Parts: sequence; C-alpha cells; structure tokens
Amino acid sequence: MFSSISFLAILLSISFLLLHRSEAQLNSTFYSSTCPNVSNIVQGVIQQALQSDPRIGASLIRLHFHDCFVQGCDASLLLDNNGTIRSEKDSGPNTNSTRGFNVVDNIKTAVESSCPGVVSCADILALSAEASVSLAGGPSWNVLLGRRDSRTANQAGANNSIPAPTESLSNLTAKFSAVGLNTTDLVALSGAHTFGRAQCRLFSNRLYNFSGTGNPDPTLNTTYLSTLRQICPQNGSGFPVTNLDPTTPDTFDNNYFSNLQNNQGLLQSDQELFSTSGASTISIVNLFSSNQSAFFASFVQSMINMGNISPLTGSNGEIRSNCRQVN
Ligand code: HEM
Ligand SMILES: *[C@@H]1O[C@H](CO)[C@@H](O)[C@H](O)[C@H]1NC(C)=O
Ligand SMILES: *[C@@H]1O[C@H](CO)[C@@H](O)[C@H](O)[C@H]1NC(C)=O
Ligand SMILES: *[C@@H]1O[C@H](CO)[C@@H](O)[C@H](O)[C@H]1NC(C)=O
Ligand SMILES: *[C@@H]1O[C@H](CO)[C@@H](O)[C@H](O)[C@H]1NC(C)=O
Ligand SMILES: *[C@@H]1O[C@H](CO)[C@@H](O)[C@H](O)[C@H]1NC(C)=O
Ligand SMILES: *[C@@H]1O[C@H](CO)[C@@H](O)[C@H](O)[C@H]1NC(C)=O
Ligand SMILES: *[C@@H]1O[C@H](CO)[C@@H](O)[C@H](O)[C@H]1NC(C)=O
Ligand SMILES: *[C@@H]1O[C@H](CO)[C@@H](O)[C@H](O)[C@H]1NC(C)=O
Ligand SMILES: *[C@@H]1O[C@H](CO)[C@@H](O)[C@H](O)[C@H]1NC(C)=O
Ligand SMILES: *[C@@H]1O[C@H](CO)[C@@H](O)[C@H](O)[C@H]1NC(C)=O
Ligand SMILES: *[C@@H]1O[C@H](CO)[C@@H](O)[C@H](O)[C@H]1NC(C)=O
Repeated sequence: MFSSISFLAILLSISFLLLHRSEAQLNSTFYSSTCPNVSNIVQGVIQQALQSDPRIGASLIRLHFHDCFVQGCDASLLLDNNGTIRSEKDSGPNTNSTRGFNVVDNIKTAVESSCPGVVSCADILALSAEASVSLAGGPSWNVLLGRRDSRTANQAGANNSIPAPTESLSNLTAKFSAVGLNTTDLVALSGAHTFGRAQCRLFSNRLYNFSGTGNPDPTLNTTYLSTLRQICPQNGSGFPVTNLDPTTPDTFDNNYFSNLQNNQGLLQSDQELFSTSGASTISIVNLFSSNQSAFFASFVQSMINMGNISPLTGSNGEIRSNCRQVN
C-alpha cells in the first residue's frame, strides 16, 4: 500500500522530469522564424576577420569550450568585471590566453542589426565554433540552438573545471567526465588542436627539465624538441607562440592525430592521449589518424555533446543585448 503510493509518486516525478527535460531540449530550428539568416551572418563576420587574422577561428572555438565547461554553455565567459561579476576572463586558464572577444562583439552587433533582442551570446559562441571549423576545411553540422545567457559568472569554476595542459590523462578524463563527456569526446575534441597556437609558457615544462628529471619530456620527438627550444629559450618570457599543429597550422584536418603518433603533440595533454601506457585513448587516436571521416563524424557528435552541457532554456537566464554585461 505504502510502497505502491511511493511507486506512483516516483512515476509522477519521473514523467514530470521527462516532460520538463523535453521542453529544455535545444534544436537546430530555434531561430528559423525569428532570425533565419543567423548562421550566415555569423559566418560572414568570421570570414571577414580571418582575412587579417588566420588564427581567429581557432580562438573562437576555444571560447565555446571554455564557456561550456563552466556552469554550462551560457556565455558566462563573456561577462566583464563589474561590481558583483568576477570575470572568468581573469581566471588562470583564460588570462592572457583566450582571445577573440572583440570579434564576438562584432558578430553580436551584426546579429542584433538583423534580429534585435533574439539571439543569445551563448548560441553565438556555438555558431561561431561551427563556422570556424567549416571555414578551416573541417566538417559542417547543424548547430543546436535555444541557449540563453547567464546573469552570473564563475571565476572559481573556471579555475577548477577547465583542464590544464600539464594535467595527467586521468585528471583530464575526470574533468571531462564531470561535465558528462567520455574518453571518445576527450580524444575527438582534443583534435581541435589541429589549428591555432599555444604560448611557450604552457608547454615549456617539457623542453628542459621535465618533472624535475633534468631532461626533456621523453615522449617529445627530438627533432621537434630542437625546433621548440629555438622558439622557446630556457629563460625566455614564455609569451612567444607556435602552431599547435606543425604540419598544417590553419587547416582543420586529422593531422593532429598523426602528429601524436610521431611524438609531435605540442602540449603534454595532447601527447598523453597516445603515450600513456595502456590507455584506452590510444586506439581512438589510431582510428582518427587512419580515417579522417571517422574523426569528423566523432568530432561533430562530441561538439553537440559539449554544446548540450547545462544550457539555460525557456525563461531561465536572458538574451543579453551586450555580450559583456548582464541586461
Ligand atoms: C583536453 C583538454 C585541453 C587542454 C588541456 C587544452 C589546453 C590548451 C592550451 C594550453 C592552449 C594554448 C593557449 C595559449 O597558448 O594561450 C590551447 C589552445 C587551443 N585549444 Fe585547447 N585544450 C584542451 C581541449 C580543447 C578543446 C575541447 C577544444 C575545442 C573543442 C580546444 C581548442 C583549442 C584551440 C582551437 C586552441 C588554439 C586557440 C588559439 O589559437 O587562440 N582545446 N588549449
Ligand atoms: C525548438 O525548441 C523550441 C523551444 O524549446 C520550441 O518552441 C520549438 O517548437 C522547437 N522546434 C522543434 C522543431 O522541435
Ligand atoms: C544573410 O547573411 C549574409 C551574410 O551577412 C548576406 O550576404 C545575405 O544577403 C543574407 N541573406 C538574407 C536573405 O538576408
Ligand atoms: C599578461 O601578459 C603581460 C605581458 O604580455 C604581463 O605583463 C602580465 O603580467 C600578464 N598577466 C598575467 C596575469 O599573467
Ligand atoms: C582564479 O585564479 C586566478 C589566477 O590563477 C586568481 O588570480 C584568482 O584569484 C582565482 N579566482 C578564484 C575565485 O579562485
Ligand atoms: C590531478 O588531480 C588531483 C586532484 O585534483 C591533484 O591533486 C593532482 O595534482 C592532479 N595531477 C596532475 C598531474 O595535475
Ligand atoms: C562516448 O559516447 C558516445 C556517444 O556520444 C558513444 O558513441 C561512445 O561509444 C562513447 N565512448 C566511450 C569510450 O564510452
Ligand atoms: C630540474 O628541476 C629539479 C626540481 O625542480 C631541480 O632540483 C634540478 O636542479 C633541475 N635540473 C636542472 C638540470 O636544471
Ligand atoms: C637560465 O637561468 C638559470 C638560473 O636562473 C641559469 O642557471 C641558466 O644558466 C640559464 N640558462 C640559460 C640558457 O641562459
Ligand atoms: C619524429 O618526427 C619525424 C617527422 O618530423 C618522424 O619521421 C619520426 O618518425 C618521429 N620520431 C619518432 C620517434 O616519433
Ligand atoms: C572511416 O570512417 C567512416 C565513418 O565512420 C566509415 O563510414 C568508413 O567505413 C571508414 N573507412 C574505413 C576505410 O575504415
Ligand atoms: C555594470 O553593468 C551595468 C549594466 O549591466 C552598467 O550599467 C554599469 O555601467 C556597469 N558598471 C561598471 C562599473 O562597469
């Protein structure tokens, strides 16, 4: 008697949750009547920006990643310091590193002039990620939309949740798992390091005295090591940058994975996917290296998975009119 009542209560709450969840689903037609041209507008501004900055697409997809890993894909990353807001831009992983915020502002301005007050900054980041990949020769996909923007930022969350390049593979796996992403997602999404740049200070631990051994990282190709030592002298500033993919620096392809097989991963976090003894990620690297279509298909699925991390939907959050401030 008692148990059948609680059974009914559980059943009711499950169906309520399911209903509630289905209301919160993102979909690719969210702006089809309110801003039908939004994808083209976003793509047009990025195409323009690429003319003077071939790196900008890489910088933009990274913003979507750093947004989604901190309280979900809600554009919390874009908020500037302001009284109560402690900007995520000043967190360890973002300071002096994330870039492209002015281009996001330009995209927002272009979108607002066609469809005022309709498109969220969080969706602009998701659309920008797709446009950047496809303009660099990677896959295209239908971006799921309908996210709304947060009224808060979480600087401590950015410090704690965004993976660092010196972390162990098990820590990387744990940080992805914490946001619902598995090891296939980890390997596929790391493939975004097929374009863009990284600063010496984020990998120089590998070049001279790795983990206090007095030697470089043994998993670093010695020819590549010599090149990197020239770009990043031992007592240099750490600010010079080099290509994450030394073979095809601005093209979105699967060379990232053959680089790992050649011990030419730039970041420790890259090379670990292939060089950690016994790791389940090795066979995924080998698959993506041998079959670019398999990489592209997984990358698209994993971008959708990442884009689905805890979005604000319905009447939660807001549509910011300026991506840098709450309304
Ligand atoms: C697996 C964990 C990851 C770690 C530890 C990591 C770390 C880094 C680091 C240290 C940089 C260089 C930043 C700088 O020099 O200022 C970087 C750049 C970059 N990351 Fe990641 N990343 C990871 C995953 C991802 C994911 C999931 C994406 C996107 C799907 C991504 C996309 C990029 C891109 C495109 C760049 C180049 C950005 C530019 O040139 O401005 N990364 N990453
Ligand atoms: C897309 O999502 C919105 C908001 O949840 C909803 O109003 C709309 O009907 C959905 N469209 C489709 C095709 O499911
Ligand atoms: C859509 O946007 C693109 C890029 O801004 C523009 O070239 C095109 O004319 C627009 N199309 C419509 C139907 O507004
Ligand atoms: C950012 O970089 C500049 C040099 O480009 C440096 O002077 C400053 O200390 C750096 N800030 C932080 C927080 O690392
Ligand atoms: C986040 O890290 C940065 C730099 O590492 C530090 O200055 C800041 O105080 C940290 N913020 C929080 C809220 O922990
Ligand atoms: C892995 O995470 C643990 C717990 O957060 C931390 O103590 C440890 O320093 C991390 N290891 C590496 C190599 O980053
Ligand atoms: C990760 O999740 C995807 C679904 O998004 C699934 O196809 C894949 O097999 C999973 N990978 C692992 C290693 O569990
Ligand atoms: C390498 O680092 C360790 C620990 O930080 C230090 O004790 C050692 O002297 C360094 N070796 C060299 C050759 O710089
Ligand atoms: C770098 O600095 C350390 C100590 O500050 C010094 O021992 C070393 O000789 C310097 N190396 C180079 C290549 O200048
Ligand atoms: C080092 O990289 C070169 C390509 O530049 C490659 O031919 C060689 O096999 C790599 N060596 C190792 C040990 O991976
Ligand atoms: C490569 O991967 C694609 C997509 O998963 C698959 O359809 C195709 O059969 C694979 N090709 C080879 C040669 O294995
Ligand atoms: C904080 O943001 C509000 C709008 O949200 C703006 O009116 C105000 O000028 C900002 N204050 C500062 C100090 O930037």
